[in-house]
Amino acid sequence: MIRGARVDVVDDVAAAFATLLGDRSFASIALSGGDTARACYERVAARAPDWSDVTVFFGDERWVEVSSPESNEGLARRTLLTVVGASHVQSVRDAGTDAVRAAARYDALVRDAGALDVVHLGLGDDGHTASLFPGSVALDEHDRLVVATGDDAHPYERVTFTYPAIARARLVVFTVAGRDKRAAFTRVVAGEDVPAARVRAHEVRWLVDRSVVSDESDTRVA
Ligand code: 6PG
Repeated sequence: MIRGARVDVVDDVAAAFATLLGDRSFASIALSGGDTARACYERVAARAPDWSDVTVFFGDERWVEVSSPESNEGLARRTLLTVVGASHVQSVRDAGTDAVRAAARYDALVRDAGALDVVHLGLGDDGHTASLFPGSVALDEHDRLVVATGDDAHPYERVTFTYPAIARARLVVFTVAGRDKRAAFTRVVAGEDVPAARVRAHEVRWLVDRSVVSDESDTRVA
């Protein structure tokens, strides 16, 4: 269905994500943002795993205060990181005084970390993933692992993993939920050149709810 990837159509993406993480040991993970990610993290937190030895990164971040409701780090801290006792959290916001400086420092942190065990990604309705937006120059970045980016169609300046950073992952997990993602997912399956379709890594898994692939049910992210 998607070249080089395994696709699981599931009734509950958040539960499937929590189960997938629960079934494997990992020492490093890059988290995502958005409503689907929030539901996933709440479900992982409900299992109360011990992440005291896990190093947490963010695959992308909006350039806002961590206290902002728009912060991906803030989302992860509120829903997951405190509950699981994550003490090795690599903050994007704390990496620099502006997005460009933070991206440069974060690039070094990610490079020094080597291959991450897990990278969690979402899918935007325009086919973006992380903050790799359609038409962005970041899509053609082949050297740096992290860049500052952004466009008029998406709020806030961003700091994002590039494809080389994602490709270092041992496992990439996409979580996609909601009928509004059907068009974007269909474009990925059709092999269209949307940002999410360019993702390659050692292992790529898609957890997709049924409303994305059919009208059987319209399970919304809680
Ligand atoms: C972000 C995310 C972004 C997100 C997708 C899906 O910072 O917004 O990293 O890539 O994962 O846009 O978001 P939803 O699950 O909210 O649709």
